[in-house]
Amino acid sequence: MDHFDYVDGTMHVEQVPMAAIADAVGTPVYVYSTATLERHVDVFRAGLAALDNPLIAFAVKANPNAAVLATLAKLGLGADVVSGGELLRAVAAGIPADRIVFSGVGKTAEEMRLALEHGIFQFNLESEPEAEMLSEVALSMGKRAPVAYRINPDVDAGTHAKISTGKSENKFGIPYDRAIASYAAARDLPGLDVQGVAVHIGSQLTDLAPLEAAFTKVGALITALREAGHDIRTGDLGGGLGVPYDPSQPLPPSPADYGAMVCRVTQGWPVRLMFEPGRVIVGNAGALLSRVVRVKQGAKAPFVIVDAAMNDLLRPSLYDAWHDIRAVAPSGQLAAANVVGPVCETGDTFAMGRDMDVVEAGDLVAFMTAGAYGATMAGTYNSRPLTPEVLVSGDRWAVVRARPPIETLIEGDSIPDWLAD
Ligand code: LLP
Repeated sequence: MDHFDYVDGTMHVEQVPMAAIADAVGTPVYVYSTATLERHVDVFRAGLAALDNPLIAFAVKANPNAAVLATLAKLGLGADVVSGGELLRAVAAGIPADRIVFSGVGKTAEEMRLALEHGIFQFNLESEPEAEMLSEVALSMGKRAPVAYRINPDVDAGTHAKISTGKSENKFGIPYDRAIASYAAARDLPGLDVQGVAVHIGSQLTDLAPLEAAFTKVGALITALREAGHDIRTGDLGGGLGVPYDPSQPLPPSPADYGAMVCRVTQGWPVRLMFEPGRVIVGNAGALLSRVVRVKQGAKAPFVIVDAAMNDLLRPSLYDAWHDIRAVAPSGQLAAANVVGPVCETGDTFAMGRDMDVVEAGDLVAFMTAGAYGATMAGTYNSRPLTPEVLVSGDRWAVVRARPPIETLIEGDSIPDWLAD
């Protein structure tokens, strides 16, 4: 559920007309709804209500905007970070370090030092060499790093290959079969405090069965590790729950369904459970607002050329992802159209032959469910400045990332002396 609704025939985000934002800020622009963020946090939390003090660590990669993070910090969420940059952004937005978990296969010694200085809650280790490096870094600082190993359970998440992470051929985690040996070796590393087990098998999961299979393996491992004398006290079940993108498709499992499965599978586990949801918190809380530049005749359907492009919203060209495209002020007529951006690549295509609202040059369209992995994956390809972002709350709204002037791209480069004259 979201708070993008039509009032008097024109799309509003909460109480603010989308057209007012487009007029004031220009397009393309990402628009986020606070009420939707709050609702999604509530619903996710309610699904886990039977658990004792779970840590819900928002996956910052899904949307690292300071205003979004500050909203989630106020709601008591922690953060799952994958770089020193994400760690600093989470802390700057008010997320306490003792609610931060650090994931990722390539943490550098410098990032480890930074996270140890801040005193984060847990490092999720993804290999034995990483464990050795972290132990050394921690010892050099006179500290012990709280760690879990991320297990690769060799489970097929049933999602797009580029966002599947839990198969044995993927780069993530340590193999399940090697886990007992890896934990035994980690116990001998004096800079580590081995406290948990972690798993994350992929993103945009629309079936709970692979998650349940992975969690069951984590449960068995926790039992085996405790029997082997490890003081395992956390179980991090990752993120991955899908959201509805295409209204013609069956709904993915709800956070309530997910929570019920988690509570059933983890009953009696002697650990504090942790979660790393990203998309399910922010996905439907954001839309990319864009204006139609012109409509051009096509072989089978007209090309609707909008001012947003693959550099603003990469998901369709990278994963063939489907985003609902709605007119902000629909005429009521529907017809097939190809929706494309201005970037000089055929991959700069948002939809082909899509039955959608008929739009003309100058009309506004909204790409829905763009709050997760939208602005954060934007780039400046074709020398298009980064997409600005707006946060709405009730009848208030604010620019939370301004559109950079093109000079930032020109002045960001420098010309070496030998070319200067
Ligand atoms: N935890 C870890 C360790 C992760 O790698 C991820 C996402 C999450 C949590 C959050 O997953 P979520 O709840 O959002 O599914 N750019 C892609 C998605 C990549 C996800 C990467 N990892 C997309 O646009 O679909």
